[in-house]
Amino acid sequence: MNTSSQDFTTTPSPSRYTTIAIVLHAVLAIGLLYQLGLGLWMDSVPKTPPGLRAGWFNWHKSIGMVLGLLILVRALWRLTHASPALPDATPRWQIHAARWNHATLYACMIAMPVSGFLGSSFTKYPIKFFDFPLPRLWEASTELKAVFGSIHTVTSYVFMAAVAVHILAAVWHALRRDGVVSRMLPQRSPAVPPAAEDDVH
Ligand code: HEM
Ligand code: HEM
Repeated sequence: MNTSSQDFTTTPSPSRYTTIAIVLHAVLAIGLLYQLGLGLWMDSVPKTPPGLRAGWFNWHKSIGMVLGLLILVRALWRLTHASPALPDATPRWQIHAARWNHATLYACMIAMPVSGFLGSSFTKYPIKFFDFPLPRLWEASTELKAVFGSIHTVTSYVFMAAVAVHILAAVWHALRRDGVVSRMLPQRSPAVPPAAEDDVH
């Protein structure tokens, strides 16, 4: 019998991800790939004309906070819902590799927005959520800004490596057509059986 491969709950293992998990996964995958690219690119934006670079940094921070909230929803959803077990024939090392990869992805998904927010909260500029300045939480600190900035940078490289492994694994499963990828995609509506078609006439 299948038991869930990454089971944080005691409920029986489902056969596919729920619609909410699929939608959150797709929105976050697109959002996080964009955010990683934006973070790497924005360092090359010049400081003139005034406001250009700050505008892109503000955009990155605002999108990062939105993603952080979605990640919180996803993590809570995951803690209360079992994920489907991998196919019975899956070798043990692949089950462990998937578990470690997913745990790393979740750890990075939490560490990225938290470290980004904390790093920015220790600068002398207020963090703006789009155009809305957030209240200052504590005094500026060059040391703490550097600590959280370093965590943000190092975690971003671990995250990019884990995402690369994850996407390669998904492509490998897609080529094998072993059903692992389809359970994270919207289900196609079942074909109408011929008998039911006849009933219409
Ligand atoms: C949601 C997930 C996030 C991802 C995937 C992400 C990704 C990145 C990446 C790849 C970089 C470039 C590497 C680096 O210079 O550190 C970066 C830089 C940066 N991020 Fe984020 N980020 C996220 C959230 C945030 C948040 C919420 C904030 C602040 C509220 C933030 C503030 C910054 C800042 C200020 C930099 C520039 C660091 C510097 O130049 O020293 N990030 N981010
Ligand atoms: C930044 C990008 C991405 C992140 C952070 C991410 C994160 C995750 C996480 C954490 C899981 C585990 C779900 C759980 O059990 O709770 C997962 C599952 C999955 N992801 Fe992604 N993902 C990303 C992009 C992608 C892409 C681009 C694809 C397809 C090419 C993909 C395909 C899958 C599949 C098929 C599963 C199900 C694996 C299984 O059932 O064991 N992911 N993803």
